Amino acid sequence: MPFPAGHEPQAFDPTAPNESRMHDYFLGGKDNYAADRQAALQAIELAPELPVLAREGRKFLDRVVRFLAAAGIRQFLDIGTGLPTQGSVHQIAQAVAPDCRVVYVDNDPVVRVHAQALLGGDPRTTVVEADMRDAEGIASHPNLRRLIDLDQPTALLFFHVLYTVPDDEEAARTVRRLSDLMAPGSHVAISHPVSDLCPEVTARLAFLYQQETHAIRGTPRSNIRSRAEVEKLFSGWDLIEPGVVYLPLWRPEHETIESSRPIWSVGGVGRKP
Ligand SMILES: C[S@@+](CC[C@H](N)C(=O)[O-])C[C@H]1O[C@@H](n2cnc3c(N)ncnc32)[C@H](O)[C@@H]1O
Repeated sequence: MPFPAGHEPQAFDPTAPNESRMHDYFLGGKDNYAADRQAALQAIELAPELPVLAREGRKFLDRVVRFLAAAGIRQFLDIGTGLPTQGSVHQIAQAVAPDCRVVYVDNDPVVRVHAQALLGGDPRTTVVEADMRDAEGIASHPNLRRLIDLDQPTALLFFHVLYTVPDDEEAARTVRRLSDLMAPGSHVAISHPVSDLCPEVTARLAFLYQQETHAIRGTPRSNIRSRAEVEKLFSGWDLIEPGVVYLPLWRPEHETIESSRPIWSVGGVGRKP
């Protein structure tokens, strides 16, 4: 199993809040427990816009995946998948081009079990339970090898997941190690909450998350970066217009923004030269 030392799989514990289940709650899903809801409500008390932020994240995901499929990408590696929701990457990509193949990666065993149940016998989509910091383990996993040819352009997707790595250098290394395995013409997409718009709220939230969730409990500092720090994660990739921007501003379509509150998460797409 691809888990580096110190990053072993999480044990399933419904009595402790868990990040993917809290995210599911923000998105209006049903795959969460009382402890998740309690922690999510505490976070919403600090930042009532969190559910809107999660939904704007999914809208960004939808636009990016359609953009990439329309650009000819047929292989998608979705890192930090989260619990299945309406409009998952395989549904969006395969609606554009049915031959798209999608590999989901998450370190939460609950995500793997739910994803496997949802995917059933879909031969073009699979799930790998792994820590994203183990690039080699992910790349050599038989499920990935079955569907993705790393000599062909691939979309490497990090939607709202890199903030769970508190150390800047480790986050950059996580992107770089997987990027190094991608062929020229591959694309990377990142969405990431940022501190620039409401530094006090995001600092308090980061502290709450460090205390509350399994994934990042005990981490020593804020993991909500600045927009400039997120831009640095694209180092080595050619940023596609409009660059790293607040999510609703990335190639907006007809949809409307649901909130008058600031959407303090940015996103961008880069192409490997
Ligand atoms: C906030 S959710 C994002 C879900 C989805 N990508 C979205 O944007 O709606 C973050 C997900 O990343 C997963 N995750 C956190 N740390 C991870 C790691 N080190 N390796 C793999 N997955 C991770 C969590 O289990 C969770 O399912």
